[in-house]
Amino acid sequence: MQSPARLYKAHIDELCRRYDQALEASGLDAVLVGAGLPPPVHRDDQHYPWHPEPLFLQWAPLLAHPGSALLYRPGRKARLLVLEPADYWHQPAAVPQGPWQRTLDIRVFRKPEDLRRHLPRNPENLGLLGDPAQWREARPGGRRNPGRLLTHLDYGRARKTAWEICCIEQATAKALAGHRAVATAFKAGLSEFEMGLMFLAACGQTEAELPYPAIVAMNRNGATLHYQHRDRQRLPAGERHSLLLDAGSSAGGYASDITRTHAARRGEFASMVRDMERTQQELCAQVRPGVAFAELQLTAFSALADLLARWELVRMSPADMLEHRVVDSFMPHGLGHLLGLQVHDVGGNLADPAGRRLPPPKRFPRLRLTRQLEPGMVVTIEPGIYFIDSLLARLRKSRYGRQLNWKKLASLHRHGGIRIEDNVLVTADGHRNLTREAETH
Ligand code: GLY
Ligand code: MN
Ligand code: MN
Repeated sequence: MQSPARLYKAHIDELCRRYDQALEASGLDAVLVGAGLPPPVHRDDQHYPWHPEPLFLQWAPLLAHPGSALLYRPGRKARLLVLEPADYWHQPAAVPQGPWQRTLDIRVFRKPEDLRRHLPRNPENLGLLGDPAQWREARPGGRRNPGRLLTHLDYGRARKTAWEICCIEQATAKALAGHRAVATAFKAGLSEFEMGLMFLAACGQTEAELPYPAIVAMNRNGATLHYQHRDRQRLPAGERHSLLLDAGSSAGGYASDITRTHAARRGEFASMVRDMERTQQELCAQVRPGVAFAELQLTAFSALADLLARWELVRMSPADMLEHRVVDSFMPHGLGHLLGLQVHDVGGNLADPAGRRLPPPKRFPRLRLTRQLEPGMVVTIEPGIYFIDSLLARLRKSRYGRQLNWKKLASLHRHGGIRIEDNVLVTADGHRNLTREAETH
């Protein structure tokens, strides 16, 4: 096991190599990556929660330093420019302790316009990355978000360094502490609202620090893929049927993205959750270099068609269900996506660093990841089956409506849906399931 300092140093060396290539391909001499600024609320003196620019966090996890930036020039030590305003309304955050203190050239400045003093004199060949709102006051000159530079960096970002994998492992451990707390709270009969708070407390994060808003969905609410409300009401035992918890955490700027579905009692739904888990684990087992993710999506849909037949929800052959898109009404999302600095990490549809696209297959137009799997990629594997009213109503009217077991669907309806989601690292010869490793640790 290498020390964090070594992992971080190797990470920065790799980042420098990627930036060197990206700058050369874009005809630029240097790049300034802005952390961004919290967006202001219209006609108010408050700001919306802020998510720092992921490309900035990739250099150093300064999560609470709006207005800061990273200057990279090939062959020179990367310069971390930290805005520490003299402010008696808000408290500027200290630069966190970590290996970046030795590896980067850290300079502090007090006012946004002072940033310029630390930049190259001639900004003509300077690329500016990040939210342009940051440059309104700082005015560093340069070219904003050049497309070629961005596609190079986005393409490379799919392959994680050992440092990044370590961050995702930490984000996984935190999220699993949250999942354990919520599983206990569900059994104890707490409300969605209370379970949401327990998740945050167990991860030790604020809502704004999470990589995405936690989905705490009891009963029918599990049928809304990104259900965003928190019912304050505690439900009596007889009215608690299921909980779908899709909740991740973050560490050093990197995300985990984990879903578990719980049945309130033994019985048919509990056994369906177990079946789904088995199917999901079989799909995880197929993750290895060279696999086209679109193929895995097809395999997943075929396995879900098998489940729909086995559960006697659809009286068609699995092959027919697949061909006539009946499965799609029960699983209206992709099997997974890249995971990293963002929960839906960028670059999943890029064919090469120059920015050529790999469009999703016609059969699966919403697939976020169309690349072949490569060592270092971290992907989610998240099959699901949901009872979504609008999609089932459409299916009912279709020519396949009569093949559905409406009686059984009506009895399962109150459960909303099932999703199981793990985060899987592609290795040189296979994979590591980061979620299961941490769960059984
Ligand atoms: N939590 C969002 C997703 O699973 O993609
Ligand atoms: Mn996901
Ligand atoms: Mn998720």
